[in-house]
Amino acid sequence: MCGIVAYIGNKEAYPILINGLKRLEYRGYDSSGIAIMQGNKISLYKSRGKVSDLEAYCADKNLSSTMGIAHTRWATHGEPNDQNAHPHLSEDSKLALIHNGIIENYLILKQELMNRGYVFESETDTEVLVHLIRDIYEKEKVELAEAVRLALTNVIGTYAIAILSVDNPDELIIAKKGSPLLIGIGENEYFVGSDGAPIVSHTKKVVYLEDGEVAVLNAKKALTIKNIKNEKKRPYIQELEMNLEELEKGKFEHYMLKEIFEQPKAIRDSMRGRLNVKKDVVSLGGIIEYEEKMLNARRFIIVACGTSWHAGLVGEHLFESLVRIPVEVEYASEFRYRNPIIYEDDVVIAISQSGETADTIAAVELAKEKGATVIGICNVVGSTIARLTHAGSYTHAGPEIGVASTKAFTAQVTVLVLMALSLARKKGQIALSTYHQLINDLESIPSKIEKILKQNEHIKEIARYFVGKTNAIYLGRGVNFPMALEGALKLKEISYIHAEGYPAAEMKHGPIALIDEEMPVIVLATEQETYDKVVSNIQEVIARKGKIISIVTESDTIVKNMSNFYIEIPQTAELLTPLVASVPLQLLAYHVALLSGCDVDKPRNLAKSVSVE
Ligand code: F6R
Repeated sequence: MCGIVAYIGNKEAYPILINGLKRLEYRGYDSSGIAIMQGNKISLYKSRGKVSDLEAYCADKNLSSTMGIAHTRWATHGEPNDQNAHPHLSEDSKLALIHNGIIENYLILKQELMNRGYVFESETDTEVLVHLIRDIYEKEKVELAEAVRLALTNVIGTYAIAILSVDNPDELIIAKKGSPLLIGIGENEYFVGSDGAPIVSHTKKVVYLEDGEVAVLNAKKALTIKNIKNEKKRPYIQELEMNLEELEKGKFEHYMLKEIFEQPKAIRDSMRGRLNVKKDVVSLGGIIEYEEKMLNARRFIIVACGTSWHAGLVGEHLFESLVRIPVEVEYASEFRYRNPIIYEDDVVIAISQSGETADTIAAVELAKEKGATVIGICNVVGSTIARLTHAGSYTHAGPEIGVASTKAFTAQVTVLVLMALSLARKKGQIALSTYHQLINDLESIPSKIEKILKQNEHIKEIARYFVGKTNAIYLGRGVNFPMALEGALKLKEISYIHAEGYPAAEMKHGPIALIDEEMPVIVLATEQETYDKVVSNIQEVIARKGKIISIVTESDTIVKNMSNFYIEIPQTAELLTPLVASVPLQLLAYHVALLSGCDVDKPRNLAKSVSVE
């Protein structure tokens, strides 16, 4: 969603800002803008569309400045156009502000400001902030940072903001609540980013601003931070865990393809230091202190959204089969609003690649309020969910830039497998032979994925069949049912083909009505307990002239003969199948989208980090 980059120092700000915006493009956006301080005035440039449109618009302008703020906007309040794009200016053009998040009480604040004569130029919630801050600054005759703090005490909602002010030309003011904001610390310079991507090429020394904090960045002075109660806070400098190469596409045409191909490495990184087959050890350092609570849990409640929710459904199979503790998997957005029953001996597991998904954050807060233990599984180090939860395990998949989640998903499942195995062993619930088979199998997953990736061209050929199709059905049973959901989600989000995932046996309770000779039916028919049942489900599709595209185990003979197309995956323990079966589904969606002319990395309307409800 929206992205923030800002700079104050002794270098030219514009190249830092525009390149920072390019690094933030992956988050999803529909307009962008820049404000720079030039002498005693703020110069403002905004454009609907891509950052390259803004860059073209700025090409012939004098952009010399050592201080500025820049923003990519993902429209919420008001359509994507130049007026609604950030930065927004105060009426006297002395203040410019950018904002991520949502001001929930903006209508009340707007009305109050309009009653006092303020005229609004945009439909955004953000514009109230700039007028409110300017109003307090003028009336209260306080320092700008104090005016910002006072203004924010009136605000309900979430924000990460950065402000330029003509009256304070040596200061950049930033503040946050609910939306992330990082300060990069250089030599007599500061960088600001809504994540590490626009900062990492400049410095790895960062301070994560906490909720309710307001910081003053002056290139000639040390960083000062105050909380909303006006108490001084000591900045805690950390090392940014991100590498520049991880943010580049390298030899790949798209980030999504790169990230699909990175899965063997991502899974090895997820297992590093946690799985040691020779020593017979599975251990997740991040949750050790909470392991007793997990072992004695009344139940696990997994909360997540989208692809992470699908990982949660796989987790349900893993935990129930191996640890024998009941599991509920909840959409975070539903969980938070239905007054759920949460016991103090429940363990809530929040899964989120970004660690910034608004609904998952709210679910975590609710579970904590009710006294449950909350464990996080996040990819982004230092993200909000990672910091809010009692304990957790990072997935260590590396930055995921493609909007459609791929390597983060398989890394989430890897962590869930490790967690389930470690708990099952400690609880004494798992037969030693099963445990050994699973840890051996888990270790071999990366090489199995490498084998699947060699079928890229074959999968591309199959993808041709999908071009021009408008619907698809994905079927799977048991642990393959979440894979049917995930395969369908991947296809619809990047190729815009309508796709549904169903438990294979559910098909005859409704969706079978859709099957005719035009309907591609992707069936996960790998070696599993219900294999014969899946074969019957395939017969039902064939009898209605549906086209079968199957994911089968290499040794399969039956389903291969029934399929119009098939993709082989290496034999794997049933519970670990999602780790391998998801890969051909990702590649299929990728090639269908590419052949259909879609923007694979930045599908329409989607954002990488869904930081609004
Ligand atoms: C789909 C996808 C989304 C995310 C969802 C949750 O490919 O990426 O469905 O999985 O928005 O995001 P996180 O995991 O960041 O909480």
